[in-house]
Order: sequence, then structure tokens, then C-alpha cells
Amino acid sequence: MRDVLDQLQTEAIGDLAEVRTGDDLESWRLAYLGTKGRLKQVMPLLRDVPADDKPEIGRRLNEIKHELERAFDSTKGSLGSTDDKQQAIDVTEPGLAAGAGRRHVISRTIDEITEVFGRMGFSAAFGPEVEDEHHNFIALNIPEDHPARDPADNFFMGDGRMLRSQTSTVQIRVMEEASPPLKIITLGRVYRPDTHDATHFSMFHQCEGLLVDRQVSMADLKTTLFQFARAYFSDEAEVRFRPSYFPFTEPSAEFDVKMKIKGSWRWVELGGCGLVDPSVFEQVGYDAEEWQGYAFGLGIERIAMLQYGIGDIRRLFENDARFIRQF
Ligand code: DAH
Repeated sequence: MRDVLDQLQTEAIGDLAEVRTGDDLESWRLAYLGTKGRLKQVMPLLRDVPADDKPEIGRRLNEIKHELERAFDSTKGSLGSTDDKQQAIDVTEPGLAAGAGRRHVISRTIDEITEVFGRMGFSAAFGPEVEDEHHNFIALNIPEDHPARDPADNFFMGDGRMLRSQTSTVQIRVMEEASPPLKIITLGRVYRPDTHDATHFSMFHQCEGLLVDRQVSMADLKTTLFQFARAYFSDEAEVRFRPSYFPFTEPSAEFDVKMKIKGSWRWVELGGCGLVDPSVFEQVGYDAEEWQGYAFGLGIERIAMLQYGIGDIRRLFENDARFIRQF
């Protein structure tokens, strides 16, 4: 009887080590601890054991039963107690890859533009998105009756405050704080209550540049924009100016970049620019006789959309990861 019990114990523990799934474990339980299991089957043998040996053999039987129950519990725990179906965790199965995040295409474009101008010596400046009419219009020489100040075209908030409609505000903020010469770039959000369509959104991003120095000309401005276009778009890109008007520059121009789109060269309008109007310098207390400067502004969404062939600005801000992940 002792040998039978020893063997039963050894086999039971050996078999349990082979258990991989909840189903295996249940079969094992039935085979050893079940009502028709091996343990129950050896019980009748107790009758033939000499009376003197009975207490000891009885204890041994109980011992084995408890040991097998404990072993059963611990195996069940290690298979995963939360798994209702008692399925084992297959550690050999390939795992689910954790999706790597990536920066939004607009954030990347902002960083790339900052980097190109950074190489040309422009440092990054920032200004508030909640602005006042002084920085958004007045100091930029934009008169009260100018169409850009139409309440229907701006997010006015009362108390003369508003969401800035252009990053040109930062020109003023920088010049108020620093003395010339200076060379800055600022990239950030601007807001206009436009009806959303494929090319308009009520929030978008602009890049603004400002250089102030002695003896600055349109040739310097054009060279800078040309170098930017060559570095950023392609080393065959061209730049052209078309005469235009902005209240804060004189003369003013709109600038186009010739770039390859889907295999063919096209002139694409990118932004506005010009030489800083002396009245703007007067607003910030710079001596307009001594200092000259140029400024430019361009839309970041437009650049990203051209570069990546994005046809609808709204897609950029819907937070649809399937779309955003492509870039
Ligand atoms: N702020 C202008 C706009 O939003 C763009 C612009 C034009 C900026 C000419 C400039 C500039 O700095 O010189 O339409």
C-alpha cells in the first residue's frame, strides 16, 4: 500500500507539471481527485492493511490528498485566475505590438521650418494667442476702417481682447522688448471665423519672420525666401515677387515658389512680405531713420498640404489617427 501511494503521488505531481491549459488541469483533477479518480480508487485497499498500520496509512492518504489539492490550487492560480474559461496564457504567442506614436504633420512642419530658418540665424520667438487690438492691428498700422478689422472676420472677446488673427503681432511684441538689430521667426496658431471648407479652417498656423538692421533691401528679403525655398522644398525651387499691399510693409509683395507638384512645375502662392513700414518702427520706438527691416508671413497648413498632397485642411484637425498616421 505504501508503494502504491508513493507511486500515485509521484505520478500525480509529474502529470501536473505537464498541464498547460485549464482543460488539462480539469482532466488532471478528475483523474486524481475526482469521485472516480485515483485517490478514491486506492481507498478500498485500506481494508486489507493490517490494523496496526492503518493509522499511519490513513494519515499518508490524507497528506497526499491535501498536497494534490494545494498543487491543484497553485497551478490554477498560475494559469490565470481571472480567465473564466481557464485558458492558459500561451507565452510563445507573438505579442500585440504597442503602437508607436508620432508627431502631428503640422508639428513636424513647424519644427522643419524653424530648423531651416535657424540655420540662417533666425531665433524662435513666441507671443500670446489671446491678443489685444493694439498688437493685432493698431501697432501694425491697420486703421479702424480696414476690412481686416471687420467683427465678422475676427474672434473679438470684449475689452479690446481677441484671438490673434495673424502672427504679425509677434513682430510688435519682440520689438517692444528688444533693441535692434534682430532676426526672429515665430510659428503658431491664428484664428479667423472662416466657414470650414477644403481650404479654410477657423484655426490655422502661420510662420512669420522679421529682420531689423541697418540698410535692408528687398533683395535681402528675396534672397532669404529663395534660400528657404531651396532648403525646404527643393534645390531647384524658384521664388518670385508680385506687387501687393500690406499696411505694415512698404513696399509690399506676395511671394510665390515654383515647385514640382505631381511631376510638373507650378508657381504656388505662399505668403506676403515687404520692408517694414517706418510707421511700425515709430510705434515701437525705433528710430526709422536709422533702422530698416523686412518681414514675411506664410501659412503652414498650405505648405504641409502641398508637400504631402493633402487635399482638405479639415482632415488635419479631425484627430482621425488613420489619416494622421500616414504622414
Ligand atoms: N499677416 C499677413 C496675413 O496674415 C501676412 C503677412 C504679410 C505677414 C506681409 C508679413 C508681411 O509679415 O510682411 O495675411
